[in-house]
Amino acid sequence: MAYKFKSVETKWMEEREGAMNQLVKLPRRAFVQVAGAAAGAVLGKGLMAPHSFQLIEMVKAAGPEASPVKFTVAYISDSHLYTRDLNDRFVRSILKAVDDVNRLDPQPDFVLFGGDLAQLGKPDELQLGLQILKEVKAPLHMMVGEHDWYLDLGETWKGLFGAPNYSFDRKGVHFVVLNSVIEKDFWTALKMTPEERMHTVAGLDNGTQSRFEVGEPQRMWMQQDLAKFDRKTPIVVFSHSPLYKYYKPWNFWTDDADEVQAILKPFQTVTVIHGHTHQVLTNRIGNISFHGLLSTAWPWPYAPEGLPKLTVQMSRPNPFDMNDGLGDGRIEVLTDGLVNKIYNLWDRNPVSVPASYLKSNGAKDKPAAPTYSSY
Ligand SMILES: [Fe+2]
Ligand SMILES: [Fe+2]
Repeated sequence: MAYKFKSVETKWMEEREGAMNQLVKLPRRAFVQVAGAAAGAVLGKGLMAPHSFQLIEMVKAAGPEASPVKFTVAYISDSHLYTRDLNDRFVRSILKAVDDVNRLDPQPDFVLFGGDLAQLGKPDELQLGLQILKEVKAPLHMMVGEHDWYLDLGETWKGLFGAPNYSFDRKGVHFVVLNSVIEKDFWTALKMTPEERMHTVAGLDNGTQSRFEVGEPQRMWMQQDLAKFDRKTPIVVFSHSPLYKYYKPWNFWTDDADEVQAILKPFQTVTVIHGHTHQVLTNRIGNISFHGLLSTAWPWPYAPEGLPKLTVQMSRPNPFDMNDGLGDGRIEVLTDGLVNKIYNLWDRNPVSVPASYLKSNGAKDKPAAPTYSSY
């Protein structure tokens, strides 16, 4: 019987569906009332999985060698929103992530959205995403993904969210946000329409498009931006694609990753957080730690080769459970500038990848692979 495999989260989402169906038509105040009422009803039935409380317990359980947490960042990524009349499931999924993040106690210092807000870069998709993300209580920082960009080469996204590359400081840590999904012009010679260009880039595993890159102008901007900082300043870079060469046929890849890593090499403590790969993924190259973000829309399988050896591999998602492999999560920035990365998998136990695991190059504190939490 299919029903017995439904998770508490799936039941919770179904409970809320009627109210949430009206969300896109609701003003902010009404949305908050609807969301609060639905969550209260589900809590009353004991259906809600208290992820945020589990995560706080994990912080307490950190080993004696762990540096204290300085502040936290929450993340939501890769929602791939279609307009609601075409696909309602992805809308409900990002709403769940927003609820997860808004229930964190204490609240994160800020929330990162990791790119691919839209599926086909359409203004309606991006507007819908903006409307939903306005409900995030903590300050929000946006990053662009290729699905947001290639219909109009970023015009709508920039109009809604501003520049795609920028930097900011938080409690002694310097954050850099990049647009890492720039591609060389493959479309003009092929006489592609904007829609054809968007579909080609969204296709991922085709030989037509070029590979992602940060590009020279942005690398120069990054170099100048970082020149102001002492080499001991902790640096955290947010990029949509992984800033290393994972698997080229799927564009799990940044073509000028070597050049970008060279810019980061002089700094003692560097972390790169990326979206796009939709999976539990960890890597360490030289002084740089890399972590992937979970998607709220679908999980990608691991690439058939090139999986970084520090990755705590998640087993294949259950195809009968539409939440499996999805999620959101947190980044704990420690006082020494390193980070613990927490994957809040919706139907599995959360996975915390501690800084000590990466710093020891996998010799210490290896996390357990995520197991099913609800069936
Ligand atoms: Fe994505
Ligand atoms: Fe992507």
